[in-house]
Formats: sequence, C-alpha cells, structure tokens
Amino acid sequence: MFAKTLFTSIALFALLGQTAVARSYHDRPHRRRHWEGKFLHVTDIHVDPTYLEGSDPKQLCHRVSDLASNNTAGVYGALGTNCDSPIPLVESSFGFMHEHLQNVDFIIYTGKSNLRKSLSRTHYRMEIPATDIVIVFAICPGDTARHDRDVVVPRTSTDVLSDHKMVVDYFHKNFDTKRVKFIPTLGNNDEYLHDQIAFGPQPLLTNLTKLWAPFNLNLGETFANGGYFTQDVLPGKLQVISMNTGYFYAKNLLVSDCDKAGSAGDVQLQWIQANLQKARHGHYSVYLMQVYFD
Ligand SMILES: *[C@@H]1O[C@H](CO)[C@@H](O)[C@H](O)[C@H]1NC(C)=O
Ligand SMILES: *[C@@H]1O[C@H](CO)[C@@H](O)[C@H](O)[C@H]1NC(C)=O
Repeated sequence: MFAKTLFTSIALFALLGQTAVARSYHDRPHRRRHWEGKFLHVTDIHVDPTYLEGSDPKQLCHRVSDLASNNTAGVYGALGTNCDSPIPLVESSFGFMHEHLQNVDFIIYTGKSNLRKSLSRTHYRMEIPATDIVIVFAICPGDTARHDRDVVVPRTSTDVLSDHKMVVDYFHKNFDTKRVKFIPTLGNNDEYLHDQIAFGPQPLLTNLTKLWAPFNLNLGETFANGGYFTQDVLPGKLQVISMNTGYFYAKNLLVSDCDKAGSAGDVQLQWIQANLQKARHGHYSVYLMQVYFD
C-alpha cells in the first residue's frame, strides 16, 4: 500500500504509450464498414511541485534526512515509495505523448492507484453502428493533485487548484485540444480534502468549470451541482459519461448513503440510468468513466 502510488504514477506514465483501439466487435462479415478510433487514457498524474530531488522518500521526498544515504529521491521520482510525481517526470511524460501519441481522437483523464485496473481500462470494447467515420480521441481521468500525506506541508485548496491548472496547461501545450477532446473525471485526491465532496454548487466545482472552460466540455448543471457530466465524442455514436463516484463511498462524510432516496448518490444513479436508457433508444455507445476512491 505504502509504496504503491508513485510506482503506479511512474508505471502509468510508462504505459501512456499504449493507446486503446476501439472498434465495433459485433460487425458481421457482410457489414464491411466499421467504426474505429483511438483514445489515450492518462491517469493519476499526482504532480507534486514540492518534490525535492535528493531528499528522503520516507519524508515524502519533501525534506532531506541527516543521513546522506537516506536521501535517494531521484530526478524522475522515487520508485517503490510513497512520493508523488516530480515535475521532470510529468514533463518528460507529456513530451513523450507530444512526440508519439498525437494520433488519437480523444483523451480520457482518470485516476487510481491500481496498476492492473488502470491497464485494463485501456482495453475498451464497444458496440458502434457501422459507419465509415474513423475517429481519434483522448480521455484524462482525475487524481491530478499531489496526495495530502505530508502533515508538515499540508495541501491547501489553492495547491489543489494550481496542480489542476498545471495539468490543464500541459494538455494545452502538447495537444491540439480543438481536435482532440479532453475529458476529465474527478478523482478522490482532486478535492480540497481527500475523499470529501459535498453535493451542490461549491468553490471546487466552480473553479474547475472555469479551469476546464477552454476544453469546451458539456459541463452544465450536473457538473455544477455534482461534478459529473456527459460528453459526446461522436454525436449519435459515442458518448462518455464522466461520473463522480465520490458520492458512492462511505468515506465521503459530506453526503448521505447512496441507498437513501434523494441522496447525492441516488440522484446520480438515476441520472446515469436515464442517460443509459437514452443511449439504448438512440443506439449509441457509452463509455462510463469513473475513479474508484480508496
Ligand atoms: C535512514 O533510514 C533508515 C531506514 O529506513 C532509518 O531506520 C533511519 O532512521 C534513517 N536515518 C535518518 C537519520 O533519518
Ligand atoms: C474558487 O472560486 C470561488 C468563486 O469563484 C472563489 O471565491 C475562490 O476563492 C476560488 N478559489 C478556491 C481555492 O476555492
């Protein structure tokens, strides 16, 4: 558990080279036209601007130890420790994406610290009506900000927003976001307080709406109230539902249990169901995108 997160951050960055190919898997041989595209899944960036090269990983790579041999934090991170991602790691990862992964239709931006789960997420299969359109897209699930683990240097709400802004800027700099849609999902470290997100308008959501405005997302009322939204990738064919799973976890003390009628989780589940029904009637496919909280 302790060592997992940075490892995951690094490993996931290493995996960015893998783009998933989405294609219709139920095409019958006589239906020769099919839909095909690529998206990029970026996750758990956990950028830590306070990371200090040559510091002590036991102190979250923020401070040096008196014992020189304990100061093992490298330029690109401290593998197998609890440290977050240093800026050079983030920059080199974006550099790689810029160089080698432009040929995507959209980017999803998600979170979470389990390598195998994150890997499997890149292998989506989908049912799409036959069409000759070839799309390219990019998705980015959350967990942008550094973890709030350091009692000596606690994370402030301004830190969280500036980490978000940094990542938004990296995407802007490295992708033509007018062509490649950027679709984020809130992670459990993206809130001001770990795992805690209330229901209803709140500064975090207002600020994220502003920050993500250049991506031209469909952040309407549902995002303003609950941090979730639908985004058409290929209208009438493929939609992403970006969920806020923060309302489904007991650890979130700011909302009541989702089995209670009218709770944040209940409202969202009904919204998801209504959207899935719409998709079924409209014969289009949906990617459900979420971060699991731990
Ligand atoms: C150096 O690291 C070892 C092993 O984790 C630890 O036992 C020791 O207390 C550390 N020393 C200092 C001075 O931090
Ligand atoms: C976020 O936005 C609100 C309203 O626009 C503002 O008052 C607040 O200072 C901003 N910053 C944070 C950290 O919430």
